[in-house]
Amino acid sequence: MSSVLTVRGGVPLAGRVAVRGAKNLVPKAMVAALLGSEPSILRNVPEIKDVEVVTSLLQIHGVTVVKDPATGDLTLDPKGAKTAPSTLIDAHAGDSRIPILFCGPLIHAIGEAFIPDLGGCKIGDRPIDYHLAVLRQFGAVVEKRPGGIHISAPKGLQGAKISLPYPSVGATEQVLLTATRAEGITELAGAATEPEIVDLIAVLQKMGAIISVQTDRTIRIEGVKELSGYTHRALADRNEAASWASAALVTRGDIYVEGATQRDMMTFLNTFRKVGGGMDIDDDGIRFYHPGGKLRPLVLETDVHPGFMTDWQQPLVVALTQAEGVSIVHETVYENRFGFTDALIRMGANIQVHRECLGSIPCRFGQRNFLHSAVISGPSQLVGQDIDVPDLRGGFSHLIAALAATGTSRVTGIDVINRGYERFTDKLAGLGADFDLSTSTTGRKLNS
Ligand code: EPZ
Repeated sequence: MSSVLTVRGGVPLAGRVAVRGAKNLVPKAMVAALLGSEPSILRNVPEIKDVEVVTSLLQIHGVTVVKDPATGDLTLDPKGAKTAPSTLIDAHAGDSRIPILFCGPLIHAIGEAFIPDLGGCKIGDRPIDYHLAVLRQFGAVVEKRPGGIHISAPKGLQGAKISLPYPSVGATEQVLLTATRAEGITELAGAATEPEIVDLIAVLQKMGAIISVQTDRTIRIEGVKELSGYTHRALADRNEAASWASAALVTRGDIYVEGATQRDMMTFLNTFRKVGGGMDIDDDGIRFYHPGGKLRPLVLETDVHPGFMTDWQQPLVVALTQAEGVSIVHETVYENRFGFTDALIRMGANIQVHRECLGSIPCRFGQRNFLHSAVISGPSQLVGQDIDVPDLRGGFSHLIAALAATGTSRVTGIDVINRGYERFTDKLAGLGADFDLSTSTTGRKLNS
């Protein structure tokens, strides 16, 4: 079943949305429950596809996952952990990258893991070489098998002195989830320190882990024999919050994002203010609004935390198409994260992408034929078009472009947006967007 959104643009989004647990923490905290000898409870869990995928992957590995119908809280009991047939794992993994993080916990729980070849948004090659390298450093045996990789640790997992070539979020999570019950001490240099990483460390500390984050981006883990369960409320999704903030700018609207957390969005908030966005921050969330007048262009480079998050870039680029002047965005985390601009150009945006590094941050993609810098001239009048959504964040950006455009846009492939944005069509309706949602099987209008 695929859904089609018919959007009639030009309506400022106004009202209130709530963001819940972060897509980039909740699935990892669910996997962490595998490490415990008792059940865990995870709170503030969003109803998104990535949570469904991890729920089913845990269930086929014998973990019971019970959802509280009233709150959505999950109770995860790893007592019955067992191996699962690789065909079943593959069938449930979808295009998620989370399965790679099952390695350490499954080896600790049942001595082995099978990880299917991974998916994930097409924003670059998405390799897992760092993951496999660190697993080998813990003493794991990694074997390529048809359709995926088999990992085991006949001699158990020992702590290691690891240095990442790049502060990879996933590889840092791989180390955290493997080292906490490995024998001895692990030292991880060049680690990622995103708020979602710190929240995962909080989860593991609640389970009994001993983890410290040092000032030079080194994380030190003292392995312990056993971990208990945890009760944890996931931090809010700062990426969804930033997406709604950009939507307010692009549609000249006014959106209160309940749950938006200033502490985790400081760099975004500075940028939002520099572009000319208005904001009111309170204890429960942040009001983002277009104050009228002109938006200002800027020079922006994405980076690892505490820099400007790569996941914030796409929605903000749509806002930059409405700024008065020339903006430059240098994407330094992924090599191919401007594909979504093709549709914006068809809608009338003036964007050129370049293979040169247009910025000062040292970047792995310079002169390697990756179109990873963009020059955006505005303001451009966006006109509705037929759009097929390429990936999660690019897809949300297409939606807000369609909402700001004059005329009607037919947006297909929107199901990928469900991976990371909870009930986004309900939220759009609540903000006054003018659209119809139909599904290809029935062609029925679900919403108007
Ligand atoms: C996580 O992806 C997030 N996804 C991404 O969010 C986010 O953009 C990214 O971190 C950076 O913050 C989840 O948490 C599910 P990385 P991850 O490992 O862990 C290279 C979204 O829209 N690399 O930090 O996969 C990689 O190619 C998604 O919510 C290797 O070369 O990102 C990239 O260039 C998109 N080898 C860079 O590191 C490896 O083995 C950063 O990737 C692993 C990564």
